[in-house]
Amino acid sequence: MIGQNSRNFAFRIQNLMALSIKEIQAPIAHEMKEFEKKFRDSMKTNVMLLNQIMKYIIHRKGKQIRPMFVFLTAGSLGNISEATYRGAALIELLHTATLVHDDVVDDSNYRRGFFSINALWKNKIAVLVGDYLLSRGMLLSIDNQDFVLLKIVSDAIKEMSEGELLQIEKARRLDITEEIYFDVIRQKTASLIASCCAVGAASVGCDEKTIGEAKLLGEKIGMAFQIKDDLFDFGDDEIGKPTGIDIKEKKMTLPLIYALNNASWSDKRHYINIIKNESNKPSKVAEVIKFVKSSGGIEYTTKVMQTYVDDAFRILETFPESEYRNSLQNLVQFTIERTK
Ligand code: IPE
Ligand code: IPE
Ligand code: MG
Ligand code: MG
Repeated sequence: MIGQNSRNFAFRIQNLMALSIKEIQAPIAHEMKEFEKKFRDSMKTNVMLLNQIMKYIIHRKGKQIRPMFVFLTAGSLGNISEATYRGAALIELLHTATLVHDDVVDDSNYRRGFFSINALWKNKIAVLVGDYLLSRGMLLSIDNQDFVLLKIVSDAIKEMSEGELLQIEKARRLDITEEIYFDVIRQKTASLIASCCAVGAASVGCDEKTIGEAKLLGEKIGMAFQIKDDLFDFGDDEIGKPTGIDIKEKKMTLPLIYALNNASWSDKRHYINIIKNESNKPSKVAEVIKFVKSSGGIEYTTKVMQTYVDDAFRILETFPESEYRNSLQNLVQFTIERTK
């Protein structure tokens, strides 16, 4: 028992240090370089306009946290293979596609520190670019007969669309509960991160049970990841995309749900009324943010986020010890400590 506790302690201690992405990437530095080449190649096209947009996307790349989850899970559970590379490229292609579409859906003009595709080329083109990326991802898998990986990722994409639609339905009716919020984020974000870990495991030939455990690990990480994203929206830090946009779009996330659930009947009516009728006014959005902050919504949400990280750590402890697993732990911690 004591041995077990001290092991847990060592496990946690390591995670107290906030490491940079570069440090976390160390065991897979070579893999990430190769991945970038494959990712770029899988976006090549002879259509001039499309080529111009693909170059723009490659130039403004994101954190690439999802391919990292694919490689680190694969390395933790087996030998990284060619299929692992294709799985990582498939997921980053689909992630990029969903971001391009998401910025149309959310009417957002800012992404990764610069203009979004819809801001520069308008909605029509952004919709088609998203479809193009999706089709290139599917072809990459089909051409290499990666059907198991494609099935895992397709399930996630289906869930993402359902999650985004459920979110819109709730934004229209403003009747979201904590339980539904968790369903939304599980579907729209955690499903894809779950698929990263599942694809990593499947790409190195793990059995169904292990793939299932990897998937659950990814789901826990994905929940924490989206909660962190939702917390960003209440801050005023520069994160490379707009803040305050969730309230503007009537997206009620956990800090706000908590604040409303703990408010007096008249306050609740007041703030719901703002969200319903005046969410396009920045001063009114600022009023709602202030209310959420003074209600303890941020602290509550941060605690909930930590419970998902704790769950993820518990699953990780069942993985064999390795440098990949260490990095995976640090990447989980990074998920909630990141600044963008
Ligand atoms: C943004 O994901 C979309 C969410 C699920 C919140 P990331 O924060 O991983 O986006 P990039 O790829 O690094 O820009
Ligand atoms: C997550 O939702 C994005 C997807 C599921 C595609 P958000 O709308 O909160 O993501 P950001 O904040 O725009 O990146
Ligand atoms: Mg968005
Ligand atoms: Mg968001």
